[in-house]
Amino acid sequence: MKNILTEQQAAKVEALLQEMTLDEKIGQMNQESPSIVGGFDVPFEELIEMMTDGRITKEEFGKIMASATQDFHEDEIRKGGVGSLMVQDPVKVNELQKIAVEESRLGIPLIFGLDVIHGFRSVYPIAIAEAGAFDTDLFERTARMAAKESRAAGVAWHFAPMLDVARDARWGRVSEGPGEDPYLGSEFARAKIRGLQNDHSSTDNYVAACLKHYVGYGAVESGRDYNTVSMAMHLFYNNYLKPFAAAVDEGAMTVMAAFNDLNGVPCTVNEFLLRKILKESLGFPGFVVSDANAIRECVVHGIAEDEVDAGIKAAIAGMDMDMGTEIYAKTLKESVESGKVPMAVIDEAVRRILTVKMWLGLFDNPYVSEETMKRYETLPKEHTDLAREAAEKSIVLLKNKDRILPIAKDRKIALVGTLAESREEIIGAWAMSWQEKDCVSILDGMKAEFEHVKYFPCGGPEGDIDRNEAIRAGDYGDVIVAVLGETAAMSGEASSRADITIPGRQRELLEILMETGKPVVLVLMNGRPLALSWEEEFVPAIVEAWHPGIQAGNALARVLSGAVNPEGRLASSFPALTGMCPVYYNHMNTGRPGSKSKFTSRYLDAPLDSLYPFGYGLSYTTYEFSNLKVEEDGDVLNICVDVANTGDRDGRETVQLYTQDVAASLVRPVKELKRFEKVALAAGEKKSVYFALPKNELGFCDNEGNYLLEDGLFRIYAGGSSRECLSEEISLKF
Ligand code: BGC
Repeated sequence: MKNILTEQQAAKVEALLQEMTLDEKIGQMNQESPSIVGGFDVPFEELIEMMTDGRITKEEFGKIMASATQDFHEDEIRKGGVGSLMVQDPVKVNELQKIAVEESRLGIPLIFGLDVIHGFRSVYPIAIAEAGAFDTDLFERTARMAAKESRAAGVAWHFAPMLDVARDARWGRVSEGPGEDPYLGSEFARAKIRGLQNDHSSTDNYVAACLKHYVGYGAVESGRDYNTVSMAMHLFYNNYLKPFAAAVDEGAMTVMAAFNDLNGVPCTVNEFLLRKILKESLGFPGFVVSDANAIRECVVHGIAEDEVDAGIKAAIAGMDMDMGTEIYAKTLKESVESGKVPMAVIDEAVRRILTVKMWLGLFDNPYVSEETMKRYETLPKEHTDLAREAAEKSIVLLKNKDRILPIAKDRKIALVGTLAESREEIIGAWAMSWQEKDCVSILDGMKAEFEHVKYFPCGGPEGDIDRNEAIRAGDYGDVIVAVLGETAAMSGEASSRADITIPGRQRELLEILMETGKPVVLVLMNGRPLALSWEEEFVPAIVEAWHPGIQAGNALARVLSGAVNPEGRLASSFPALTGMCPVYYNHMNTGRPGSKSKFTSRYLDAPLDSLYPFGYGLSYTTYEFSNLKVEEDGDVLNICVDVANTGDRDGRETVQLYTQDVAASLVRPVKELKRFEKVALAAGEKKSVYFALPKNELGFCDNEGNYLLEDGLFRIYAGGSSRECLSEEISLKF
């Protein structure tokens, strides 16, 4: 285990362990969230279902909740029976912490955790969008800001970053992570860990990250959430494990196990994953928490006979903390006393948990000061500026026929689609209603940027559309800007879709708008790649805004006006049709790559390739690559490529470097991203971009996890997307 505490701190952890009773130890392994009590006759879970399936409205749900009270488990805390809680209110945090610190026998502080997925007060673009900025400095800065804001509310532990490599756009959780590529995912992971964890100038400035969902969750069969995962082990090592390994290497303090089974064993009780790979091979020093209710679900999975058995299996596998089931709290003592769970297992888990609490400074500074609490009552300008910058850098221009965009500020704009006025939907999955107060809707942003903007709701992702209003929009506008896509709830957890075209009647609405004869700009707000073959064929301009966060309106308006030249890229390929999922650029080669010939790997009724590939994104200027040179220099490949801005606007191009191992002992992907760099280029400017790629990064893992570097031919690609690249070949010996 890596040394992350001072000698003194480590000694304090050991001394506490010596003093703790078995009950107190198990208490540390128990995470609670506030339970809702009273106010209604059915269990809370059913109430949620009633709201989801429409038996009660959101408002009715709100009323019932207002009449209910929350149980914060004060008695258990007092007895030392709780190690962690999910709470976000600093006053409550202090109140509960006081019980833990002053009234429990040993005074061990609680660690408060929360799903801070893409910002706390300042909500940034969803992760799949932010990853497309290809900007590690940005990834780090947004994480650092989120850490400060949440720590001011007493939340010292983020259940983030989500690092699942995700290649099937049907899976709703693609929105939460950095997309389909393990290298981009790893760079994202490292930057997030630095941002969340590394500013120790004060305990107000950092939190513990939680890597999730370890591991393979992004590969759930058929993109259906919580489904089973089967994968060859070389895919596991070379793709799905990579961002987690990078984040552990960067110093990540906690990990959350995934819900799914991996090749038959649920991650929650998977000793190979938790002990052998994570704790032993990667040397992970922190603790592992289960996903919500996951220990109990091992019974449903059919891997444990009952809850006692599930608790035993999880603890032995290396699961240190139980999220939400109280199975450890209720059954682990007996399992230890009967010899089914060795005491050493418990001690190890508790040592890890106390280590993280110590590292967070919770023993010395358990409370949030009054002053800190007030720090972000009004969001400072640098926070909203950062949210706007992140949104601007994440927006992707997918199509711009006849240069419809940018739109001159004095043109009459008919703004269509109910998403345009929403504050709730722009912050995407995992956002919370209290964050809406800082949101700038698309409508507000557009009105601030342009002189003549008129709003025509016409319809949205759900419900009806209004044909007459759409026609009126055509009558008014010189240009129609149609903001269509998905609601926040259509992606994220438990939001898989079997048809990933634009939902509801929005396509019909687009058709009506197109019939008006006015130029249409389609602005998409969504949490996953969509199947856009119709839109690509018929709509002249398409802008992918994703769920851009609290500054959505300002960022989008500035992109549409040309105040900002779009530079975002896709971190996930877009299929032409849903049936092509999963679609990703770095797929394996086959003996019969798809082509026009019949007996090749293709569909009869779909294009050969994705509609928009990974790394793709247009700009208001154009770039040209030339002169790719690759030279071997000892242990390094020196790669150089020229990139020129051939248009009439300044811009920033994302130069991408890919490689292919042409012949190896295992089939290798057709291309793999190895490096990227953002290059600012004034109109007409040309620059040479250099990459020094260590040759030992050209290897891969076999099915046993052995890293192989094999002599032979390699192809090196450089370009502005995974599809459009120059290439060179080089023969290498290692
Ligand atoms: C999700 C996790 C989340 C946890 C706690 C689970 O349902 O899968 O991503 O961190 O809930 O809210």
